[in-house]
Amino acid sequence: LGDPALDISRLNKDTGYFTYDPGFVSTASTRSAITYIDGDKGVLLYRGYPIEQLAKHSTFLETSYLLINGELPSAAEFSVFEHEVTHHTMMHEAQKNFLNGFHYDAHPMAMLCASVASLSAFYHDTLDMDDPEQRRLAAIRLIAKVPTIAAAAYRSSIGWPVRYPRNNLEYVTRFLHMMFEVPSEPLDLNPVVAKALDLLFILHADHEQNASTSTVRLVGSTGANPYACVAAGIAALWGPAHGGANEAVLSMLTDIGDAKNVASAVTRAKDKDSGFRLMGFGHRVYKNFDPRATIIREMTHKVLADLNIKDPLLDVAMALEEVALKDSYFVERKLYPNVDFYSGIIYKALKIPTEMFTVMFAIARTAGWVAHWLEQQVTPDSKIGRPRQVYTGSAERDYVALNKR
Ligand code: ACO
Repeated sequence: LGDPALDISRLNKDTGYFTYDPGFVSTASTRSAITYIDGDKGVLLYRGYPIEQLAKHSTFLETSYLLINGELPSAAEFSVFEHEVTHHTMMHEAQKNFLNGFHYDAHPMAMLCASVASLSAFYHDTLDMDDPEQRRLAAIRLIAKVPTIAAAAYRSSIGWPVRYPRNNLEYVTRFLHMMFEVPSEPLDLNPVVAKALDLLFILHADHEQNASTSTVRLVGSTGANPYACVAAGIAALWGPAHGGANEAVLSMLTDIGDAKNVASAVTRAKDKDSGFRLMGFGHRVYKNFDPRATIIREMTHKVLADLNIKDPLLDVAMALEEVALKDSYFVERKLYPNVDFYSGIIYKALKIPTEMFTVMFAIARTAGWVAHWLEQQVTPDSKIGRPRQVYTGSAERDYVALNKR
């Protein structure tokens, strides 16, 4: 590189040359048998099964089993898995006190992140990661408890008392019951709402080495406990370039306000100096339609029709998609709507508050995170994650005493 301070051979005598790949655009950090994406063709497979088929026929809990175990369960296997998850839905009473300690306007993502990390303070038995049974138990606990913590975080954040999980309900209905005041018995919960949420959870359950899953694996590579690893994943998911995009999309659509303002929003998004991007557009891997976005778009129309809702934001979203997909800036860069473009509109229709959108993503992605963490624990060539750098600082120099500077 010319500059002795930046001389790679000087910095890297032991390992030879390495690749400079900011953002890991073309670096595989691991082998994995969980999820396959063909970004050019818009293909997404969980353990070989097309996302479209899982969305149509599976449930979130069955899909979680598939991600973790590699195969779809038999009826008996599913029944045991469901029973185990149900058995672990309660959270420790002391965690309620922990949630009560947050400031009244705390963001539920902050509460979720901290509370999931705190699970390691309650479940010391899973800190022995050499025991496969304890690893499996940690995975079950996370899938079971994250919805309970998420609902409790939300209710605490608005000053409502926490609701205990009703274990005679199914996974998604149980979550909805914990979240909301339901006027009559929970079984009256609208099945359209439960089905839509279950489908959203399936679509968000895994997406190979995205930023949050890579974070889970990086933390996992140090031998940290699974609760700490998933808490780190939640923190990574929070950013608007990742899971926080669903919240950002809704506020963007609200700001645009009307289909007639779409053209000027698109013009602004093309101007690099504006600092504005079309949220819910673009993806590191998909250079074609995100197959999840295609499913969600169709589902948005169905959910709104079934619930008899007319949301002007859907008109804004459709107009935005139409204008952007014809615009050469977006066409040349292969920027298509991603999973988060329409998900916020559905969450809104399901009466999920905006600040909970990324939390919903985290509930679903917990299945993927634990699947990757479990896979990592049995990967023979698994090493501590330790990226290198290209140093751009000062060359070697001598310390100067304070009174001489
Ligand atoms: N609006 C306008 N321009 C965009 C957008 C967008 N949403 N996304 C990318 N671009 C442009 C960039 O400015 C860049 O242009 P250039 O080549 O002229 O410099 C080009 O497209 C490539 O963009 P990068 O940021 O280099 O692509 P990268 O793969 O690093 O980023 C990302 C992908 C973060 C998703 C990006 O497209 C983005 O910021 N999108 C908006 C946020 C979003 O929706 N995030 C959710 C992603 S899905 C998920 O995490 C669940």
